[in-house]
Amino acid sequence: MITKPKGTKDIYGTEAKRWQYVSKVIDEVMEKYNYNFIRVPVFESSELFHRGVGETTDIVTKETYDFTDRGGRNMTLRPEGTAGVARSFIENKMYGDNNQPIKFYYNCPMYRYERPQAGRYRELTQFGYELIGSDDPLADAEVISLAVNIYKILGLKEIKVNINTLGDAISRNNYREALINHFKPYIHKLCSDCKERLEKNPLRILDCKVDADKEIMKTAPKTIDYLNDESKERFEKVKEYLEVMGIEYVVDPSVVRGLDYYNHTVFEVEAKIEGFGAQNVIGAGGRYNGMIEQLGGPSTPAIGFAVGFDRLMLALEYEKVKIPVNSSVDLFLLYVNDDEKKYAAYLTNELRMNGFVVETDYLSRSLKAGFKQADRLNSKFTIVLNSEMLENNEVKIKNNKTKEEEIVSIDALIYYLDENIIEDEECECEDDHQHECSCSHDCKCHKED
Ligand code: HAM
Repeated sequence: MITKPKGTKDIYGTEAKRWQYVSKVIDEVMEKYNYNFIRVPVFESSELFHRGVGETTDIVTKETYDFTDRGGRNMTLRPEGTAGVARSFIENKMYGDNNQPIKFYYNCPMYRYERPQAGRYRELTQFGYELIGSDDPLADAEVISLAVNIYKILGLKEIKVNINTLGDAISRNNYREALINHFKPYIHKLCSDCKERLEKNPLRILDCKVDADKEIMKTAPKTIDYLNDESKERFEKVKEYLEVMGIEYVVDPSVVRGLDYYNHTVFEVEAKIEGFGAQNVIGAGGRYNGMIEQLGGPSTPAIGFAVGFDRLMLALEYEKVKIPVNSSVDLFLLYVNDDEKKYAAYLTNELRMNGFVVETDYLSRSLKAGFKQADRLNSKFTIVLNSEMLENNEVKIKNNKTKEEEIVSIDALIYYLDENIIEDEECECEDDHQHECSCSHDCKCHKED
């Protein structure tokens, strides 16, 4: 049997419906915040990620899926979305657009060759957004508040927002020097990767998973002590705006982020649900004012965030957040002979084009088995097409909830369905219809198999 690659998932059935629902909510929220959808390629030239994400990051040195295409070009499956969006901003000369800042969002798979475990995948999905063209601290506050509001709107309560600042280039450099001085005497105690990071990018040492518990890590200098006045003031402004918006946060100096491109504000959102597991950072982001210039564009400030979609879905499940999953059809059409089957073909097409969810039989089932199938699909109405009645332009329609039957003229069928279909009420049961429950709705879990 051919199996899926390690670290990937098949999303189908109820889980797929939950994903679709969450994506729909995200689309609606992003519209309110005036972010536009962007689709960039799954693969880009490897150079983009080396220059954009950073040569010394774990993502680029250890985790990218690299390949040479048939034309001999070095390509990489995108490990994240920010570099591709920045490339698109430059290539499409969006900096010339009067309508600044440019606000984009994406919701798509990324690829990282990591050691798979619960909440960590090789094909992961990120919903991310980027605000390009503003250095205003209000933009930082918008990006952070949007993250918090998305989680809140979806019903997640147990979250913690950790924010920090790396400061401007001067502050970051001062901090870098302080880290080198701190780690240099103890370098022989650190792992081989950290030895390499010391000169190239000492901030990355703080992200090291191997050395994480060593005392030398705990006593490392804090970003906050190396900020110049300008950077401190800027961070104060961001916090002020967050407070006005009523966004709760914690200043955590240990948040430095695993990608090279950040400066000023950086932040992470943690799921604090009991038993959630080690991969509890459900989203992260920050300001990257230098990246666009580094990629060959004009100096352009930017800030963004990415939600780990897979981890978000896990968190929603852990917190038992109810997600409305539509699991019914409006009408099931049954037939006995070939003429009736032809009419079923016509009518399903007609009714679907008028906005109804209609199903019919494709397996030459008996009527009895057809009724069972209608039941399994939670069909609200059933019609058994009958040639004699069709000659009179009529059908007999059964309401599967009340069990009442009515004869309706075909010309009035659309009107009848419009008047009589009651949208599914949201079920109150906690367990997503997987087991019998005690809610008061006529939902799937009360039906016999
Ligand atoms: P990141 O921290 O690398 O940032 O990833 C963002 C989020 O994606 C993480 O917080 C986590 O929830 C999720 N994630 C990362 N790796 C995995 C994995 N292997 N399996 C499951 N989930 C994962 C970025 O990617 C930046 N581009 C964020 C950003 C946008 N910064 C500015 N704009």
